[in-house]
Amino acid sequence: MSTADEKSRKAAAQPSGSIPTAEEGPAPADTAGGKVMAFFFIGLAASLFVGWIVFPKLLYSQKKQPIDFNHAMHVQEVDNGCESCHFFRPDGTFTGIPKLDKCLECHEEVQGDSAEESRFVNQYAQKGKEVPWLVYAKQPACVFFSHVAHVRMGKMDCAACHGNIGESQHTRVYEQNRISGYSRDIWGRNISGFKRHTWDSMKMADCAACHKRAGVHQTSVQTGKGACFVCHK
Ligand code: HEC
Ligand code: HEC
Ligand code: HEC
Ligand code: HEC
Ligand code: HEC
Repeated sequence: MSTADEKSRKAAAQPSGSIPTAEEGPAPADTAGGKVMAFFFIGLAASLFVGWIVFPKLLYSQKKQPIDFNHAMHVQEVDNGCESCHFFRPDGTFTGIPKLDKCLECHEEVQGDSAEESRFVNQYAQKGKEVPWLVYAKQPACVFFSHVAHVRMGKMDCAACHGNIGESQHTRVYEQNRISGYSRDIWGRNISGFKRHTWDSMKMADCAACHKRAGVHQTSVQTGKGACFVCHK
């Protein structure tokens, strides 16, 4: 016991005794500068972490699609590609996501040994219950959008606005902005607003930018008379 006490007393005495007084002058200034820099970088890193990683996580709530749908596989199984399920009615309206009837053409009974297929057949197909799909591209109710204008008249590819959903093997999670209620596909994939692909966001400015480029009916969203009602109900 006494030896341990002695050791600690010696250890405590050692540092102050051994530091030469000559070096004490400039040292505190340097370490203070170093500390300021260190705090700056720790603070910067922390705010970047919050801004880029924590905030987007908090800002978006995540929802799983009710069924994991495999586009790549189904496009091979049907006769007419995308149009087998996503087609225009004779009056030009777009069918959107197919109804359960379409699925029943092949899924009245479980036909394979995939767990996801039997879940789909048992929970929806055999009960005649529509699958409550979440629509990534959903716009607020005040927006009028017409597929026929873009796909038929404008001859645009689905991917220009939707990305690679048609080739995907799994449905991705649906992310909803907690403040605005918008889907992340509308509000923007990148928190900074930076766009790498045409489909990264589909806010008013995104629609308008392409319309301006393509010369659609109005010259400017801001000044064009009546221009608002091209896209608003
Ligand atoms: C067998 C029917 C079927 C076929 C064929 C099919 N789809 Fe789909 N599609 C669906 C179903 C079901 C959903 C809803 C689930 C989902 O989002 O994956 C969907 C959703 C989508 C969506 C998501 C819309 C949104 O914003 O939520 C896009 C885009 C899409 N399909 C594009 C395509 C393209 C492009 C093709 C052809 C390459 C295609 N689909 C072929 C059934 C089909
Ligand atoms: C043309 C026929 C056909 C149509 C129409 C069809 N499917 Fe399928 N589906 C298949 C086949 C074939 C399989 C593969 C079954 C197996 O062998 O596991 C399959 C598999 C699935 C699976 C399991 C996929 C996996 O990755 O494990 C799900 C879920 C599914 N279908 C949902 C749907 C839904 C929802 C619809 C309607 C929008 C639909 N299918 C329309 C033929 C079809
Ligand atoms: C110019 C951009 C654009 C193009 C091109 C486009 N879409 Fe869309 N799509 C949208 C927008 C915007 C919505 C949301 C509409 C709304 O909420 O009123 C949407 C919605 C959808 C939906 C969900 C509809 C529903 O049930 O609510 C499906 C499915 C879809 N698109 C499939 C397709 C397919 C397949 C193609 C190619 C044939 C295509 N889209 C081409 C912009 C586009
Ligand atoms: C990638 C380019 C592009 C994007 C993105 C786009 N549009 Fe368009 N839009 C067009 C083109 C091109 C036309 C004209 C098609 C034609 O008549 O030849 C058009 C036509 C329309 C029309 C019909 C106008 C008319 O008077 O006939 C409406 C409505 C419309 N767009 C709404 C929207 C909305 C809402 C969005 C965003 C959610 C959107 N568009 C995004 C290119 C685009
Ligand atoms: C090219 C299509 C287009 C035109 C033209 C357009 N808008 Fe929009 N607007 C949209 C879309 C898409 C949204 C939803 C996405 C968003 O909030 O950015 C929207 C959203 C809005 C909202 C927010 C509504 C809400 O519920 O959050 C207001 C307000 C609005 N627009 C006003 C206008 C006014 C005023 C004009 C005319 C000067 C106009 N818009 C012209 C496409 C358009």
